[in-house]
Amino acid sequence: MADSSVPNVAVESEQSVVLNPASPPAAEISRLFYLILGIATCIFLIVFVPLLWLIFRFRAPRDHDGTEPPQIYGSNPIEIAWTVGPAIVVFVLFLVTARSVFQIKEPATGQSQDLNVRVIGHQWWWEFEYPEYGFTTANELHVPYTPAHTPSRADDLAPHVHLDLGSADVLHSFWVPQLSGKTDLVPGRLNTLWFEPKRSGWFYGQCAEYCGTQHAHMLLRVKAQTEDDFKKWVADQQRPAQDPSEDDTEALAGKAIFLTNACANCHTIRGTHAKGIFGPDLTHLMSRTWIAAGIRVNNKENLLAWVADPQKIKEGCRMPDMKLTEDEVKKVVAYLMILQ
Ligand code: CUA
Repeated sequence: MADSSVPNVAVESEQSVVLNPASPPAAEISRLFYLILGIATCIFLIVFVPLLWLIFRFRAPRDHDGTEPPQIYGSNPIEIAWTVGPAIVVFVLFLVTARSVFQIKEPATGQSQDLNVRVIGHQWWWEFEYPEYGFTTANELHVPYTPAHTPSRADDLAPHVHLDLGSADVLHSFWVPQLSGKTDLVPGRLNTLWFEPKRSGWFYGQCAEYCGTQHAHMLLRVKAQTEDDFKKWVADQQRPAQDPSEDDTEALAGKAIFLTNACANCHTIRGTHAKGIFGPDLTHLMSRTWIAAGIRVNNKENLLAWVADPQKIKEGCRMPDMKLTEDEVKKVVAYLMILQ
C-alpha cells in the first residue's frame, strides 16, 4: 500500500481532459462525439417528450371501469416509419464514423522533421526509444510542437509525431486523450499512432487496457515543447551518464553497489556496464519528474523509499526488494541523484 506520508504526484494546472483536444486526431474524435451526442439527444427528446405527455394526458380516470382501449396491430404506415427511421439514423452514424476513421489516418508526410518514437509497454511502465537520436527514456515522452498550423487534413504537411507501439509482455493501450485516440500495444506486432500537438505543455495519459495488478499506476505524460527546447532536451539525453566526482565518496560507493548488484541486470546506465533492458533506462533519471510511471514525484525522499523496498510503494511491481541495508540504499540514491 502507498505510504500517505510521502508526497504523491503533483497535480499540475493542465489536466487531462478528454474533450479539450490539442491535436488533429483528438479534434476529429471530439467533433464526432459532439455530433453523435447531438443526434442521440434529439432521439431522446423525440421519444421522451411525447411519452411523458401521453402518460399524463391519458391517465385512467378515477371512475375507470377496467376495460382496455382499442388495441392496434399491424399498422403498415407505423411499422414502416419505425423501421425506416432508425435505419436512416444508423446509416448516418455509420457514414460520419467512417469519415472520422479515414480523417484520423496518418497522412504520409514524408517530412524529414517527422519524429519517430518506438513505444514499448511493460508491466507497468512505458519505454520510449528515439531511434533517430540513439537514446531511450521512460514514462515521459518529449515531442516538438508545431504552433502555426491549422488542424490537419490530408494536404497539411506539418511534421508529425509517429509512434510505433509494441509490448514486452501483455496487452496495454496508449491513450493521451488530448492528442489522439487509444491504440493497443500488442505483443508480437507493431501498431502505429500519430499526433501533432498544437500547443505546448504537459498532456496526461494512462494505460487504457487492463494489464495486471498495477494497471492503474501506468501513467504517462507527453511534454510538447518548442523546437529549440526539444533539441536541447535531445542533446541532454544523448550524453552518456554523469560520473560521480572523485570527492563524492557516497555516490562513488553507490555506483559500485549498483554495478555489482542485480540492479545492473535490469537497468541501463549508458557509459557504464549496466545494460539491462528489463527495467527503465536510468541514464538521465533525474531529468524525469516521476518515478515508477507516475506513482510518486522524483525526489530524494521518494527514491530512498523506492530503492529500500519498491513493493511497499507499488505492490506487485517487477522490481524486487533488493534487501539493501539503509546505508547502501543511501549510497545508491546518492548515485542516482547525480544522473541528471
Ligand atoms: Cu498497461 Cu494497463
